[in-house]
Amino acid sequence: MKTDFTFGVDYYPEHWPRERWETDAAMMHELGIQVVRMGEFSWHKMEPVDGEYHFEWLDEALEVLKKQGIKGILGTPSAAPPKWLVDKYPEILPVDDHGQRYHFGGRHHDCQSNPIYRGYIRRFVTAMAEHFKDNDNVVGWQIDNEFGNAHAGLCMCESCAARFREWLEAKYEKVEALNEAWGTYFWSQEYDTFGQVDPPYVTTVGRNPSHMLDWKRFCSDLIVDFQAMQADIIRKICPNHFITHNFMGFSWKVNYFDLAKKLDFITHDQYTMLSTDEWPADDKILQTPDFAAATLELMRGTKKAPFWIMEQQSSITGWTHMAPAPRPGQIRLWTAKSVAYGADTIVYFRWRSCLGGTEQYWHGILPHSGIPSRAYREIEGTISDLAPVMEKIRGAMPKNRAAMLFSYDQEYAMQIQPHHPDLDYVGNVVSIYKGFFSHHTGMDFISDETDYKDYKILAAPLQYLMTGERLCKMEEFVKTGGILLLNMRAGVKDENNIAMSHRRLPGDLADLAGLEVPEYDCLRGFTVPIKWQDGEAGTARKWCDIPELQGAEAIAAYDGEFYAGSAAIAKNRYGKGWVYYLATEPDDATMARLAGEILAEAGIVDDFAALPTGVEVAFRGDYAFLMNHDAAEKHLDLPKGWEAILGETEAIAGYGVVVLEKKEA
Ligand code: GLA
Ligand code: ZN
Repeated sequence: MKTDFTFGVDYYPEHWPRERWETDAAMMHELGIQVVRMGEFSWHKMEPVDGEYHFEWLDEALEVLKKQGIKGILGTPSAAPPKWLVDKYPEILPVDDHGQRYHFGGRHHDCQSNPIYRGYIRRFVTAMAEHFKDNDNVVGWQIDNEFGNAHAGLCMCESCAARFREWLEAKYEKVEALNEAWGTYFWSQEYDTFGQVDPPYVTTVGRNPSHMLDWKRFCSDLIVDFQAMQADIIRKICPNHFITHNFMGFSWKVNYFDLAKKLDFITHDQYTMLSTDEWPADDKILQTPDFAAATLELMRGTKKAPFWIMEQQSSITGWTHMAPAPRPGQIRLWTAKSVAYGADTIVYFRWRSCLGGTEQYWHGILPHSGIPSRAYREIEGTISDLAPVMEKIRGAMPKNRAAMLFSYDQEYAMQIQPHHPDLDYVGNVVSIYKGFFSHHTGMDFISDETDYKDYKILAAPLQYLMTGERLCKMEEFVKTGGILLLNMRAGVKDENNIAMSHRRLPGDLADLAGLEVPEYDCLRGFTVPIKWQDGEAGTARKWCDIPELQGAEAIAAYDGEFYAGSAAIAKNRYGKGWVYYLATEPDDATMARLAGEILAEAGIVDDFAALPTGVEVAFRGDYAFLMNHDAAEKHLDLPKGWEAILGETEAIAGYGVVVLEKKEA
């Protein structure tokens, strides 16, 4: 299974005249491209008529690439079923929460549970795998494309509804248990049979939060199952090929920890500037360095292993609106950042900007004209600079002592009831991550299934849905010397999204935290001042838990409202460890100070404290990547014992990258 590539591109040979292919392949070779992904949307080209397969063009493209020493990854095209299939079986088109069917003409217009559709997928994937199994220029497969990157909601067709009922029956066995778990006594929502339960369609008013939570879990499981169906076929027919899928960072429709299990490695699509039809606010187009870092930490965390970037931004992004042109150096910088957080291979999206279709303005390495310009030249330099570094660090992982507990269940529950219009799970996670990031500390993103004992610090934001099992793990972790950071809305509900009532908030976490939360406040249109013990000021935003301390010590308190003097941040000794309770979502400076105190408590020293602002550092094994996100050059004052293997140790250029190797002290 060959996977030791450094650079690749996403290529659509079928979009271009046959005469151009040799030129493309030769140019790729010259650029340093070793691998190409193809075919993930080309179902109609491969099966133009029901049951009639045409893989010759892909054979030919693979042959042309082979002459330049370039290998191929094939995508299964289930993200774009052809019109003939949709016309023959309109029921494979997905349905929204009004029961309305979507139309053909975009992508991901497929229902992943529909048995007829699944039959077609099985037949197609089998034929494709059989055809390419002995092609020595194929190294691996990408299943589908960006699962969950579809219409706003999840398919609520009759087939999905039926499968949801089966899923519920397997989970609850008796309908009484479902009624209990969902609190259906409210508004007379009791079900008499599983057959009566629908997906959470739009109602006259309100929806049951427990129903919605199970629906989101079900949809994630459905996608995992849909991937498994394809992976099992390919695995059997092509045992020497790798199987992967391209993830989308903090996208949520499928639980990536689950999706990663069947894959040899995961890949991620990294667009540091994002602009599609859902036009984000101008200040949201560019991912902040901390947000992008957290994204990549999660991607590495889904398999706790190095990964690939299957689509790395290569130029201007945009569908109907466009993002600004990446400044000279930024494409190189963002590429290096992917590597810094764990990518062993970088595949750029896309080789050449397409002439037709929705993504005409999602630019490639080559512009429409096909004539190399600035993006091409920057990538040429990036490859020659980074490929040798990547060869050296392949496989290396960071040695993080801090972890972030990341949970799709908490994400779903907070989507269903965000509390405050600006409060969201990922935003809250990233706000905490940012505190540690400001001290140059990386964090492993881990799931509920992971053991905490490899870590000294565990941040567990929004432990809104709580389980006894997690509580035991946390108790054990802290008792034996771990430092746990909890925050507001901890222990509010059980795993079914039903409020807990057996004791005051934060429920059974109260003993760990050394406090109770009899009251809280949602900060609609106002903030609340915070004061640290030494008088330093901060700000509470969005939400305030109002704790009553029972053993914990306040390290910062609210300085306003009727709860002035109550703890905003508390610290409690538990066994050999500590529990911090952050009762609000504070401003960045407050979070940075708290993270600094936690790191000090853990004895973790920031060797790179003297880095200028705007310069990020990330570690892989004995290597450190310094990345300057500002346009201006910065002077560096580095700790002893590091040598530069890319760039220099005295200064870092605007948008520049320096890679350091740790030498024996
Ligand atoms: C995603 C997809 C690609 C393409 C790009 C640009 O990442 O995987 O097929 O659509 O976005 O929009
Ligand atoms: Zn469906």
